[in-house]
This record gives sequence, C-alpha cells and structure tokens, in this order.
Amino acid sequence: MENNKSPVILSGIRPTGEIHLGNYFGAIQYFVKLQEQGHQCFYFVADLHALTTAMEDHIDVDKNSVEVVRWYLACGLDSNKSTIYRQSDILEIPFFNLLLGMITPEGELRRCTTYKDKVADMEGKRKMVSLGLLAYPVLMASDILFCNADIVPVGEDQLQHLEIAREIARKYNHHFSKKHKFTEPRSHLVEAVRVPGLKGEGKMSKSVGGPDNVIYLNDAPKEIKRKVMAAQTDLGPVAGEPMTESMKGIYKLLELCAPKAVYEDYLGRYERAEQRFYGDLKKELAKNILELVEPIQQRYQSPDCSVERVKALLAESAAKVRPIAKTNLRNMLDDMNFKHLAQTYN
Ligand code: TRP
Repeated sequence: MENNKSPVILSGIRPTGEIHLGNYFGAIQYFVKLQEQGHQCFYFVADLHALTTAMEDHIDVDKNSVEVVRWYLACGLDSNKSTIYRQSDILEIPFFNLLLGMITPEGELRRCTTYKDKVADMEGKRKMVSLGLLAYPVLMASDILFCNADIVPVGEDQLQHLEIAREIARKYNHHFSKKHKFTEPRSHLVEAVRVPGLKGEGKMSKSVGGPDNVIYLNDAPKEIKRKVMAAQTDLGPVAGEPMTESMKGIYKLLELCAPKAVYEDYLGRYERAEQRFYGDLKKELAKNILELVEPIQQRYQSPDCSVERVKALLAESAAKVRPIAKTNLRNMLDDMNFKHLAQTYN
C-alpha cells in the first residue's frame, strides 16, 4: 500500500568555493523548481563533505557554508517552504555515518568512479587522500537516510553514490530492521549539470580551467562581460562539420540563459556556416547572463540574505531537523542492539 505522505526531497551542495553558474544550473535552479511545485524539500550545505578535501585545498568551510545559504536564498529558496540547514548542525549524522559504515562493503567504495578520479587528480598534485574521501558515499547515505528522504535530485556523477545509499538501506532493512526501516531513496536525475566552462575545457569548474573558466554569481557585471567576451571560440563554422567543443560550450550556456528564439537564431547561423557573428553571439550571451544574475545579486545584498539572517535561520532549522534525526537514530540503536543507548539517548 502506498501511503499518501508527500515525498521528501533532499539535496545539498558542498561549500568548497564560491557559487557559480554551474552550481546554479546544475543544482540550485532545480531546488527552486521542486520547492515551487509544492514538494516537501530538505536542502542543506554539505559542510562535512567539504572537509574531505578542505585541509588540502585550504578552504574556509564555515564562511563558505554561510555563503552557500545566502545564495540559496538569493536564488529563490524560501525558508518558509523548504527546510534549509547545515549538515554539521545535525550531530546525529556522523553517528549514522559510523553505524552505516559498518555495513558498507569497502570494495564498493574503492570502485566508485568519483573516488578513483579524485584520487588520480590528488595524487598528481601530491595531495593526501583521506579516509574521509573514501567514505564519502557513506556520509552521503547518512545525509539521505537519516530523515528517510524519498527523492534526491542529483547530477549524473552522483548516481553511483545514490546506488550505494540504496544498497546500505536494503542491507540494514534486511539484517536489522525492527523498529526502524529505511526508505530506499530514488534519484531524480537533473539535466544540464555539465555546465560548460568558458575555456572550452569541460565543465564549469575552477579546478579545470582557472577562474576565467567560471562565472561566479558574485561576479561584477563588468567581469561577466569580460569573461564571456574572452571565452574561447573557433575560427568560424565550416559547412558540414560538427560543432567544435568550445562552441558547444558557448551554445549550451546560451540555451540555458537566453529565450529559445534567440538560441535557435544563433544555432541557425552556425548551421548555415555564416561567418563573423561570434562577437554578437557573445554579446547576446553576456546580456542574458546579466539579466539572470543581476536580480539574484540584488537579493543577495538585501537584509533577507544577510549573514546574520542566515545564521539565525540555520539555528532555527537545526532545532527543527535534529528531532527527526534523533528519533530515527534512537530506533536504529535499538535495532542494532545498543539498547542501553536507545533508552537513555534523547
Ligand atoms: N555529493 C554531492 C555533490 O557533490 C553533495 C551531497 C552530499 C549530496 N550529500 C548529499 C547531494 C546528499 C544529495 C544528497 O554534488
């Protein structure tokens, strides 16, 4: 029997740096859409996840976390509609992580593509690979399972992690479940996660192509124009040839930001192999990015998105979310034969 409780949607982003268009198109815009569709949404800042590389990357996780929430709000997340919180404020999550780690096969974690790629990258840079990085998917499973989330909007690169979360839930339910049963979370694959960089080098990420590869939501209009006008192009379309990678990136951004008719007009010009229109194309792209970003920047600067307001909001939401985590953890402790804790922990 289906129960008719509305599904819980949950997702988060890691506060590893400044928020950019890639974060917006690949995650935040979907968070807002799902919120506006009236779902019950939990959106958080995965600050503990940022720690998996923070020491090596010299990241100020505390500051970045507050900034992520400011941008969440500026982009349209509404704390009256969605529950917006910080992962580390829910102290139970690390305990879920510990317990769930005991039923996670280590080999599975080593086989994760994200892990292997990250290790290759970090070893190349002579950075330390932490145990926390290996266990990343267990912590992610804890984020999702602690509140029995039903649906997790994520990009393609996170699907493997979600599969691990489902497996952990199944294993727990099979071996331990008496008082507590985990929901097997489903993914909600979001498109356009691979927002292209401006340097024609894969996705919009600072680690891939440097700061000019990325448009930050906080970039000044002048800076946005400069970056777009400096974006890599090619020598011009050649009739019958497929589009070059750098132009694909520019067109993808235009498709994401501009009205359909504008995008199609420029696509037609490329297909007809017209020449000398890239300057106009970039001006059009810059204009559309600015139209998107400027109202967000205005809200970001408003008192509703201030650091003080965000800190107060995080305190409130922690007090709301922790009881959910506690109830589930208590039942889980009972199931896993820590009765002494289950009885005294509240
Ligand atoms: N791993 C996700 C990412 O890098 C962030 C994340 C952490 C997450 N915990 C999560 C996303 C739980 C969804 C659900 O994008």
